[in-house]
Amino acid sequence: GMRERREKLLELNKQAARTFHKWLYAPEGAEGLAYLQKRGLSRSTLTNFGLGFAPNSWDALIQALADQGYDKRDLLDAGLAVNNKDGRIYDRFRNRVMFPIIDVRGNVIGFGGRVMDDSTPKYLNSPDTPVYNKSRNVFALNIAKTSKAGRVILTEGYMDTISLHQAGFDCAVASLGTSLTSEHAQLLARYFQEAIISYDGDGAGVAAAQRAIPLLEKAGLKVKVLRMQGAKDPDEFIKRFGREAFAKLLERSENQVDYRLAQIQKKYDLTDDGQKVAFLQEAAQLIASLSSAVEREIYGGHAAQTAGITPEAMAQEIKRAFSARL
Ligand code: CTP
Ligand code: MN
Ligand code: MN
Ligand code: MN
Ligand code: MN
Repeated sequence: GMRERREKLLELNKQAARTFHKWLYAPEGAEGLAYLQKRGLSRSTLTNFGLGFAPNSWDALIQALADQGYDKRDLLDAGLAVNNKDGRIYDRFRNRVMFPIIDVRGNVIGFGGRVMDDSTPKYLNSPDTPVYNKSRNVFALNIAKTSKAGRVILTEGYMDTISLHQAGFDCAVASLGTSLTSEHAQLLARYFQEAIISYDGDGAGVAAAQRAIPLLEKAGLKVKVLRMQGAKDPDEFIKRFGREAFAKLLERSENQVDYRLAQIQKKYDLTDDGQKVAFLQEAAQLIASLSSAVEREIYGGHAAQTAGITPEAMAQEIKRAFSARL
């Protein structure tokens, strides 16, 4: 039945993860091991995350698992093998370092594989399968859920999360790309009260943070956003500036209203009176959308201070924007 099928695929994934991990330390995995070491990962990190290597071969995994009693259909169903046009099957992951994706119960449900050079696609991921649904699973939640931090650091990438864990931030997870879903948000809300979004600093990361904020809030999480300068993502930041510097960024991470005010501010030159008025009007619209009067007062004060006007004048503007909404 369905249940047995799922269990068989999970067992197969576990065997595949063990095989990839073993290959990382075999002669054919030397380049993969060197790559991960060059990226600063320690032996214990490689073990903790079960990282591995898929050799440069069309059927190394198919062969290795055939020896353990798994057939072509199992490998296709698990997304580990792909059919070509003439009905022959080959390994999906070839010549890549491998990141197993593990669910909260500890099951290996899928994989991501990274090239070791600049070729594309940079990452190849398991497709959705009977045991893997990418919009419902968050990378490293199996580890982060036991963190005592009480909050979750949400990153985009495998390497961001792994680097954070290696640096001692055991509450990091990754949404594996920039599209957080409401299912991801609800899953996180089961384990944490607060989420700190720590996406990449590029345009895609900033836009993704904006989309993630309402989903996380709706799931009941308090949301903050970490802003980074001098590095493109948390992995690069930690390598360049160290764990203490990242800890400072975490402490300074802004609640989402201040973050959005800062995003609005970037669009205007506040030394120009006309633009200052436009900034205050847009800020007033954002603040008027907040449900609590106390919040409207606090953030109205922040916006007023930013623009150098009195809190009373800002309160007037917010009141106007508030009535316009009704
Ligand atoms: N991603 C993906 N497929 C791609 C590119 C990205 O699935 N072709 C996902 C991966 O989960 C990746 C995340 O999106 O970790 C963030 O992408 P990006 O910032 O481009 O990669 P990094 O995580 O920074 O990877 P690295 O540091 O290894 O270059
Ligand atoms: Mn990115
Ligand atoms: Mn990217
Ligand atoms: Mn990166
Ligand atoms: Mn990145």
